[in-house]
Amino acid sequence: MPQTDRITIRQPDDWHVHLRDGAMLRAVLPWTAAQFARAIIMPNLTPPVTTAADAAAYRGRILAARPPGSTFQPLMTCYLTDSTDPDEVERGHTQGVWVAAKLYPAGATTNAHHGVTDLNRIRTVLERMQRIGMPLLVHGETTDPEVDIFDREAVFVDQILPPLLRAHPGLKVVLEHVTTIEAVEFVRAHAPNLAATITPHHLLINRTSLFQGGIRPHLYCLPIAKRERHRLALRKAATGGEACFFLGTDTAPHPVGAKEAACGCAGCFVGPTALQCYTQVFDEEGALDRLEGFASRNGPAFYGLPVNDGSITLRRGSTPMPNAIAVGDDRVTVFRGGAETSWSIA
Ligand code: NCD
Ligand code: ZN
Repeated sequence: MPQTDRITIRQPDDWHVHLRDGAMLRAVLPWTAAQFARAIIMPNLTPPVTTAADAAAYRGRILAARPPGSTFQPLMTCYLTDSTDPDEVERGHTQGVWVAAKLYPAGATTNAHHGVTDLNRIRTVLERMQRIGMPLLVHGETTDPEVDIFDREAVFVDQILPPLLRAHPGLKVVLEHVTTIEAVEFVRAHAPNLAATITPHHLLINRTSLFQGGIRPHLYCLPIAKRERHRLALRKAATGGEACFFLGTDTAPHPVGAKEAACGCAGCFVGPTALQCYTQVFDEEGALDRLEGFASRNGPAFYGLPVNDGSITLRRGSTPMPNAIAVGDDRVTVFRGGAETSWSIA
């Protein structure tokens, strides 16, 4: 077969993005807006985005931070807490302020300490979301401190997700940034109401990568990268053409100093190199013809949105990308920055 050196796909969307706020928002947004027409914006700011008014204001700040001429559309989300009011969730949804709500088990990840401590506390919220057709986006890790960090997703999938789905059989759920065979198989078995996003980094690194030649703080994210067999299962899921898996980068910028620290925080900044990394993976798996489904079609189909009109072309060959971007006096390290991707945006 002749080697494909260029591929044009319908304009993709990113179904899981952390844009932060202020100077960080202004620095990172152009990278996401350069690749994606729309993005699901995570609400884990400090303080979190819990009201429709907060979300509308945050959306305004994102729109104002777009580069001139950009038509990028942020799709906002509601951060669920123990005291979330179902009426507020429905109001924000009806008014078109937010499209989904995010469940962070309390303390599971960065800025998740206001999250939900007990799913029973949001039962009426989930019932309402089911009724109005509003998707629930889940950070799927148990917060039981006794559970090994590498097992936290599998335990969540085994013990917490099944009763949640049973209690709300009509609820649309996205298991975000899946990292394990267990999650992939569970999602397959519960599609189409259940779907999953898969990040570029979890397709490219395994847990050994975190310690290659020394500790690699910029590869530390949650859920943490798992064993190689899990990475291979994720690659099959992403590139296999199944509608229940779609693109979500989980691009999660942190200043260098917060990463390279005695207690560094979780999150990989993959916005600038996301599509290049995904394309490399699909190429390596001999599945370039399925990239468009994963990147541009499956997500809109799940969310009940139209696909985008435009297109984007990628070409084989690396283009030097920054190793880090400036944010005020600080810097944020780019995942696979430098010239480490084998595909570029044409
Ligand atoms: C995210 C962040 O920094 O906000 N970090 C991460 O490791 N992925 C939060 C999250 O999505 O878990
Ligand atoms: Zn995230």
